[in-house]
Formats: sequence, structure tokens, C-alpha cells
Amino acid sequence: MSDAKVYAVVLAGGVGSRMGQQDKPKQYLEVGGKPILIHTLEKFYIEDDFEAVIVPGPREWIAHTKNLVRKHLPDESRVHVIAGGSTRNETIMNAINYIEETFGIDEETIIVTHDSVRPFVTRRIIEENIRYAREVGACDTAMPATDTIVVSEDNEIISDIPERRKMYQGQTPQTFNALKLRNLYESLSDEEKNILTDAAKIFVLKGEKVHIVEGEVFNIKITYPYDLRVAEALISGKIEE
Ligand code: CTP
Repeated sequence: MSDAKVYAVVLAGGVGSRMGQQDKPKQYLEVGGKPILIHTLEKFYIEDDFEAVIVPGPREWIAHTKNLVRKHLPDESRVHVIAGGSTRNETIMNAINYIEETFGIDEETIIVTHDSVRPFVTRRIIEENIRYAREVGACDTAMPATDTIVVSEDNEIISDIPERRKMYQGQTPQTFNALKLRNLYESLSDEEKNILTDAAKIFVLKGEKVHIVEGEVFNIKITYPYDLRVAEALISGKIEE
């Protein structure tokens, strides 16, 4: 087993526009009486594998985020709140640069990146992410597609219906060798950087292996108001995980 240092990066730099009119980004909304971000952070905070938990948030919400961490987690020193970036990948790059400046980074360093709005991630998923990132260099959490996936180039007419047994739906965590991810990202043109919203795709585009870790149906991303109701039901035990 390698002695690579592992960091959790809980991505909270988004504004949550699809959640509709809200006075705060969705990661700060409460479910089960606690902000979504805190539910998610608790999953990583309790894992001994992590040197530290990095939380990049919107610049204007940094003070608020620090207050929440102080209020809800017993040892705030393990959690580092920093400024996110203009895109999800830029947010990840800010976290890698912060880790380098604060702790130092080497060829082995691994980051487990996770959406702050997926509070139902499990210990099994996190542990398999760390294992496969160590072995392969990159992995992505995904679920075999239950629905048939149809492809449309023009959003009107179906251009393809791929075989369902090859289709998966992406979740997070996505876990990477940190320096490799940064090097691959920096090799992209500005145009490619703008198109690529998914960090694992950077590896795939460059011909690098990304191992699949099987997710869970309940590892949902809270995106729309309806998801808040589902999350509430999951937390209160009305739906079994
Ligand atoms: N994220 C981030 N930095 C950004 C954009 C997104 O850290 N510049 C994070 C979000 O905070 C979220 C995760 O990436 O935890 C997944 O993104 P998504 O659900 O698309 O979040 P938002 O961008 O906030 O939502 P929307 O697309 O509805 O605006």
C-alpha cells in the first residue's frame, strides 16, 4: 500500500442557479435541521484517511462557511475553507494550489473531490475511491443506467440509442492523483477548458485510465427544489437508504 497523502476536497463554489430564487447557494440550505454542506462535510471529517478536508466556497460566503464549520464540527482545524473558482474545474485547481502551498504536494498526493450537495455519500464509496485512485491514478463514481439513454445532437431528433449495458450515470466522488490532474488540465486550450465541466473527462480525453467505483441510487445531487424534498425524506428515514 502506498503512503500517499490523501485530501478531501468538498466542492462548494457554485451558486445553485437551478434551485431557483433563493437567498443563498443551495449548499447552505437546511435539510433535517442542518445545512446540506455540513451533512456532506461530516462524511469526510470522520474518515481518518484524510490529512485535511478542503472546502472551496463562493468568495462572499467564506466567513459564513467558516462560522458553520465552527458551529457544527468539533475540530475546525481539520477543515480549511478557501475561495472557489469561476468553474467547477477552476475550483478544483484552487484546492490543489492551496494544498501545495499549505501542506506541500508530491507525485503521490491524492484528492477525493466531491460535490458538497451530495450528502448521502457512503464510507464504502469513499474508501473504494481512495483504493482505486492509488492503484490506477484516477476513478469516478457511477451507477449503471437504469433508463435507456438516448442521444440527440440537436435536442430534437434522436441520433443514437447506445447499448444500455455500457451506459452509466456519473456521480461523485471523483478521485485523482493531484499533480497529474493539474498537468492534464493545464495542457488543455482555453476553449477545451470551457467545454469540460467534468474533471474525469480530462483524463479520458487525454487517453488516461479512469476506474469506475459503483455509486448508490441514493447518492443524489441536490439540484432542483424537488431534490430537497427527496433529501428531507431520506434524512428523516421516510425512504430507506
Ligand atoms: N461548484 C464549485 N465551483 C463552481 C461551480 C460548481 O465548487 N464554480 C460545485 C457546486 O457547489 C456543487 C458541485 O460543484 O457542489 C456540482 O455542481 P452543480 O450541482 O452544477 O452546482 P451549481 O453550479 O451550484 O448549480 P447550478 O448549475 O444549478 O447553478
